[in-house]
Amino acid sequence: MRTKLAAGNWKMNGTMAALDALEAIAETSVNGPAEVLICPPATLIHAARSRSGTVAIGGQDCHAAASGAHTGDLSAAMLKDVGADYVILGHSERRTDHEETSALVQAKCRTAWAAGLKAIVCIGETLSERDADKTLDIIGDQLASSIPDDATGDKLVVAYEPVWAIGTGKVPTTGQIGEVHDFIRRGLEDRFGTGIGGSVRLLYGGSVKATNAAEIFAVSNVDGALVGGASLKAADFVPIIAALN
Ligand code: G3P
Repeated sequence: MRTKLAAGNWKMNGTMAALDALEAIAETSVNGPAEVLICPPATLIHAARSRSGTVAIGGQDCHAAASGAHTGDLSAAMLKDVGADYVILGHSERRTDHEETSALVQAKCRTAWAAGLKAIVCIGETLSERDADKTLDIIGDQLASSIPDDATGDKLVVAYEPVWAIGTGKVPTTGQIGEVHDFIRRGLEDRFGTGIGGSVRLLYGGSVKATNAAEIFAVSNVDGALVGGASLKAADFVPIIAALN
């Protein structure tokens, strides 16, 4: 049985005042079986930890090196030290803004695991790749090259985020989501065996809202969501968590 996961990615949004929203999410979402996670900007992780109750806290990126001369960067161990349990890796905004490759994402994943963090590895196609019928090729490549060989369901979550659906209000059909999630599941089972491959949680991300969450969560091999904009306010995120419970 895979524990459902409702994860919020606050991206570069939020100062200390935003932790009121986290507290409200923590207060109103304690009763269900789904795990709830908020990944605030790194500046808020430490303060978030003391106000998050049973809501887990995560980072949005870490460096591939364990420590060293990397001005402005954060290590996985630093995130863990201030209270993070998870880290998002390979988000398309990092792949685009910082030219992160799947090989780099894989290296970061190793470092995150060594520091005791669970990794949410993001993969997804652009609109032109989908239009050119390359979606499954892209997903297959990113999946194979972003994840280290020693994956387990305890430390790996995969998030399918079609780039064209992020922050746009455009959502793939449930058929399109199901096709990709089933493909990812088969890929993980082929590579890691049915035990491990079947235990990795698969999240959908891209314009998830209270109004479409239930429909998306009913799709096969969707174990939860990675939510951007709609995770910033309790009034928007709590109904998404409720749809998962
Ligand atoms: O990581 C979550 C994300 O990229 C989706 O963002 O705002 O479309 O829910 P949003």
